[in-house]
Amino acid sequence: MIFRSVHEIVTDDIFLVLPGFTGRDDVELFLKIEALNPAGSIKLKTAVSMIEQAEHDGILYPGSRVIESSSGNLGIAFAMVCAAKGYPLTIVTDLNATRASVNTMRCLGATVTVIATPDPGGGFLRSRLDNIHRALAADPDLVWLNQYANPANPRAHRTHTARSIHKELRKVDAVFVGTGTTGTLMGCADYFREHSPQTRIVAVDAEGSVTFGTPPGARHLPGLGTSVRPPILRDHAGFDLIHIGEVETIATCRELARRHGLLVGASTGSVLAAVRRLAHTLAAGSRVVAISPDLGDRYLDTVYNDKWCESRYGVVNVAPIGGIHV
Ligand SMILES: Cc1ncc(COP(=O)(O)O)c(C=O)c1O
Repeated sequence: MIFRSVHEIVTDDIFLVLPGFTGRDDVELFLKIEALNPAGSIKLKTAVSMIEQAEHDGILYPGSRVIESSSGNLGIAFAMVCAAKGYPLTIVTDLNATRASVNTMRCLGATVTVIATPDPGGGFLRSRLDNIHRALAADPDLVWLNQYANPANPRAHRTHTARSIHKELRKVDAVFVGTGTTGTLMGCADYFREHSPQTRIVAVDAEGSVTFGTPPGARHLPGLGTSVRPPILRDHAGFDLIHIGEVETIATCRELARRHGLLVGASTGSVLAAVRRLAHTLAAGSRVVAISPDLGDRYLDTVYNDKWCESRYGVVNVAPIGGIHV
């Protein structure tokens, strides 16, 4: 296949069957692997959708400079698309972003601001947004596309992610979706309500996230969860909700690496932990999709590092890696 630009290389049709994972032999589980594109995550679709919509609307044009908030993957995807299209980019991220993600954004030419002061609730999102508002006030020519509020974010998942799940599998009984901005969730909820209303959508959030109105708490892994409710979210979009703690996330990631040979990112661990927790609620014969937003190479210093885990959670009493230390 020949592509004219790096951001056209989107892979939306890769599903890995995980036999035995749910403990139910009458349930089929398909992991939708989103990382096999040049940006390494599902956020490439979000970035392309937001940037091309802004170009179409005349908000972005040659010479524009862009600023965006990201805990990692959207920043990398934005950096890739902005480099290819010639827009200078500033990404505002925080201490939870992995070193690999920050370095990747910088290598792609982005200026990266790392926020080190947490919000009163323990997250960083409010502090990141405050930083962006200050930058916009100082430089009115900066363009902020705001992934937390931009309708082109959920639209990317309605048009691509959800549609490709339905096209590939036809009968889909449940889709498990991790939630950051809730763009993937809202896009999937909208698509399936229209095209397959019997498909159950399950939102998977991190314990300590305020997205769905639960109290704030400390979180150390990027991807899932917020410290400010995302404006994209509509509560009545018709989905179930489950929260997963970070220790369970890490245990699931490590189990997947060893049992199935796939090094997954933190959100994938959370989403798969949710599938297993709710497996008893699935009807016999169910076909279930779990969306895997990224792979584990960005998490070698965190999820897969015993010392880091011990320092954050006290002890990781499951599947110690041993040998990987920085
Ligand atoms: C690692 C990771 N987790 C979760 C998600 C889901 O995020 P959102 O709710 O913003 O679509 C993403 C996003 O793409 C991601 O990259």
